[in-house]
Amino acid sequence: MDHNVIQEVRSKVDIVDVIGERIPLVQKGKNFFGVCPFHDDTHPSMSVSREKQIYTCFSCHATGNVFQFIMDYEHVDFKEALKMLAERVNVSLGNLHFKKENNKNEPLYEIYRLATKYYQNNMNTNYGKKAKQYLASRKLGEDVIKEFEIGLSLASNHDLVTLLQQKNYSLATLNQIGLASDDHDTFIDRIMFPLYDVAGKVVGFSGRIYDTSNANKYLNTKETPIFKKGLTLYHYHIAKEATRTAKCVIVMEGFMDVIRASTIGVSNTVALMGTALTTEQANLLKRLSPNIVLCLDGDDPGKQATLKIGEQLLKMGIEAKVLSLDNDYDPDTYILEFGKDRFMSLLENAIPFNDYKIAALKTGVNFQSDEEKSAYIHRVLEQISTIDDEIRIEIVLKNLAKEFDIGYNTLEKRFWEYKKAKPIQKIEMTPKSGTKKQDKYQKAIYAILYYMLQDPFVIDQYEKEGLFLPDETCRFLASEISYYYKKYGMIVVADLYTYLQDKKELLTLLNQVLTQPFPAVIAKDTIFDYFKVVREYNKNLEVNRLQKMMEKEVDPLEQAKIAEQIRMLRMGS
Ligand code: CTP
Ligand code: MN
Repeated sequence: MDHNVIQEVRSKVDIVDVIGERIPLVQKGKNFFGVCPFHDDTHPSMSVSREKQIYTCFSCHATGNVFQFIMDYEHVDFKEALKMLAERVNVSLGNLHFKKENNKNEPLYEIYRLATKYYQNNMNTNYGKKAKQYLASRKLGEDVIKEFEIGLSLASNHDLVTLLQQKNYSLATLNQIGLASDDHDTFIDRIMFPLYDVAGKVVGFSGRIYDTSNANKYLNTKETPIFKKGLTLYHYHIAKEATRTAKCVIVMEGFMDVIRASTIGVSNTVALMGTALTTEQANLLKRLSPNIVLCLDGDDPGKQATLKIGEQLLKMGIEAKVLSLDNDYDPDTYILEFGKDRFMSLLENAIPFNDYKIAALKTGVNFQSDEEKSAYIHRVLEQISTIDDEIRIEIVLKNLAKEFDIGYNTLEKRFWEYKKAKPIQKIEMTPKSGTKKQDKYQKAIYAILYYMLQDPFVIDQYEKEGLFLPDETCRFLASEISYYYKKYGMIVVADLYTYLQDKKELLTLLNQVLTQPFPAVIAKDTIFDYFKVVREYNKNLEVNRLQKMMEKEVDPLEQAKIAEQIRMLRMGS
């Protein structure tokens, strides 16, 4: 990758213009502010610095340079973001070479391509007639079969294995990727739904029975080197495009639901393929859109999952909306029975998760009992004390007052007691360092990194002293900053972002460092003090280590030697 041309593009583009074209920015002092598009928000929590050419969200901690912004906002990879911006400022990229993706799994993808074609082909033979009838009975026609590459595995149990072995794939490989079990096909006489990874490559199958009554309605590919269920959301690659124009992403349980939604032109959907959402999947969702609509099955497990997933997303700073269906429906059957317009109107009227949760608190409560009624009201008050929106809180309180004929003031007073007890949760992006209170050592390390970015003097000092930063990631970042400075003769934070873009943990740290509230200008003595604090920390570590060694030492002479070492360490500073 040619760093110069990337730097050229970066320096010719003004991040304020690029972001300003996409979200309204207002200038306050040196910086510009807007509503962050990367989490659910109404406050202008994103700041854009013309001087530094970076953006930072103080709420969700999204940060980066103009490339990162375009990548996340437009859902494109680095190469595409670079192209878009290069065009804008008329920089020719020539034959830029990018590091090839690690493609040791390429043969596995190839096998899945072959298998997909093979199953699709079966669907169009005589054997496929019954399967097609089944699909037609569920109102899924040729166009859907084609679009979702739906196929058929045959009743004889070695067709695919034989075919792939003829193409020189070993039985071991076929077992490894879940297409063979021992010496025969894994999937037998099932309608085959390809499962795609986030890039849209087929990495697995879900096979549905259609002609038999097998207890196993769906058989899914096991976890393989290319198929990790917890990292997959069905239809993600399509939803990625669709959410650019749609206002939200809709989360459903099954791929049948997603397929059905597509028949009414709703493609901004993904399926969990079950009712659990992993952290990785949640992060994927967040990248698609800050507006997430949960549209799970109407049955009890669906309701439970809605509560659980909504809670998970709240912890990530997103209040999802909920489209809840009646008990007997899932999105598939609802759309089939009531059609597009009714579904769209449900979607329009999806309610904020907190409201859904409050409504859910009602289930099972016996409102004839004053005790239960009061307990319910308390739970609601406690619940809304976490909502960060005064208007919504007032609405809930007014409704409660009306519904149960209780004085508004009484409710409000209790509400504030809950509110005080539970201040609005700050979003934790980095729980490791966030949960612990920052101590003076941590502060000193951050300060050193912070001023290394501002002032080459600090870099020189760091090098000259050979200062050892006790945290490995911090040490790594310091050495990268130092290296970058030597190579380019100055530090441009926005370019440093590009330089570090493959090193996620360093970017996270860089973001943490840059958002520390250190003064822009600082006396040299203060810098030296920070260095001293770090040295002191290292010294304490070393003293501790020696003390432990001394305790274990049996030879009194050796013990004395160590004691002397400790004494010397303590004397020096
Ligand atoms: N699922 C599964 N194995 C099962 C049942 C369900 O893997 N035995 C997964 C599938 O990925 C399915 C999702 O969970 O898409 C939702 O399950 P369910 O609601 O039962 O499936 P439907 O979408 O309703 O499928 P169908 O309409 O074909 O019955
Ligand atoms: Mn269903």
